[in-house]
Amino acid sequence: MLWPETTKRNKAGELAIGGVSVVELAEQFGTPLYIFDEVTLCNRARRAVASAMAGGPGSRAVFASKALELPVILSLLASEGLGIDVVSGGELFVALESGIDPHVITFHGNNKSRRELQEAIDAGIELIAVDNLYELDLLDALTRERREPVSVLLRVNPGIDVHTHEKIATGVLDSKFGFPLWNDDAATAVRRALEIPGIRVRGLHCHLGSQLFDVRAAELAVERVIAFAAEMRRLYGLDVQIVSPGGGMGIAYVDGMTEMDITEWMGATADALERACALARIPHPSLVFEPGRWIAGPAGVALYRVGSRRDIDGVRSYVSVDGGMADNIRPALYDAVYTAELANRTGGGERETVTIAGKYCESGDVLIRDIELPRLNPGDLLAVPAAGAYCIPMASNYNLALKPAVVLVAEGAAKLIRRRETYDDLLALDLLPAVN
Ligand SMILES: Cc1ncc(COP(=O)(O)O)c(C=O)c1O
Repeated sequence: MLWPETTKRNKAGELAIGGVSVVELAEQFGTPLYIFDEVTLCNRARRAVASAMAGGPGSRAVFASKALELPVILSLLASEGLGIDVVSGGELFVALESGIDPHVITFHGNNKSRRELQEAIDAGIELIAVDNLYELDLLDALTRERREPVSVLLRVNPGIDVHTHEKIATGVLDSKFGFPLWNDDAATAVRRALEIPGIRVRGLHCHLGSQLFDVRAAELAVERVIAFAAEMRRLYGLDVQIVSPGGGMGIAYVDGMTEMDITEWMGATADALERACALARIPHPSLVFEPGRWIAGPAGVALYRVGSRRDIDGVRSYVSVDGGMADNIRPALYDAVYTAELANRTGGGERETVTIAGKYCESGDVLIRDIELPRLNPGDLLAVPAAGAYCIPMASNYNLALKPAVVLVAEGAAKLIRRRETYDDLLALDLLPAVN
């Protein structure tokens, strides 16, 4: 699925999402605008929640809020039964302010500060995924006076080479995340964790990377984690009740790509868990999946207004839009590919191959290279699908760009869920020099 489920062309030939024409949205809220389709978000959340049940009792899906940390959307996803995972004090704060029940929150990250850990403990969140011995030492100190132990997972690195961009692979040998399983580090972590009276090790976590399509990698991860769990049970009596294979399920960004079937991914992982537990003769833990991109990505569309154009004879034609790397850094950061459609009219007739450039002062600020589109004129609207994950959260104020507005559309109505920044917002943190 590339576009939100409700995407259509209306009689005027305009793209409409959630029953609202993008032309109206652009007029009312301006551009660049991020549009989220409520139906798509809810359906995908429901599908993830239902598919996670393949893991057996206690198994569930949590949304990786780093993919999209908007309060209204977090609350909507939680109401569909997803837990929420956070990776910073900021994400924890926003999740709690969004009304998320702390009992469904997991805290990840490879360098949690004392303060962040304290905040997580104070909030009474469900699980802290411990990444390293430094965090275990901090937790030891922070939990000394507690009566109730704090539940933790230990993040391990299963050393699996996944096929994705190197910047979004996390479970490979050369990674900053998790205790390696191929040497004594993970066993050392288990021994240390079991000595700490204020924590209870509930299970093991790993995450292989993002934008993955190879189910076998997830199966292999679970096999390795269970083999390790069995050894730790034998040596130290560790009782692994939860195994989290993380997120990473891939989505389609351009025509011709097929998204990962989440039901297949979760089902195959659950089967692998079952087989591995039977082989190792250990009790069957529950599975906690952490999809981020898969839930939010296809639900969001970025809408831009076309502006200037540069034709370089025999080389390339650049068409610039009013956003770019400040609202979507992914093409510049990961060579991510996107497609687009002319959104305010069908644009029959002449088509041409152009490169869609952003408006920021970097030659690398290119959103889409060499895409065939109807001839674009200044003022046209260009819609980019699959923009729902890792765009808004990575947006910056580079060139003092104003971060875009975000709307949620459903049943013919649009709700503003994040207003566009203003020039005043740009100075909100600064002290101005005294004027003589
Ligand atoms: C620990 C963890 N869980 C889940 C995710 C979500 O990944 P994705 O959005 O690819 O599903 C990430 C992403 O980096 C992660 O680090």
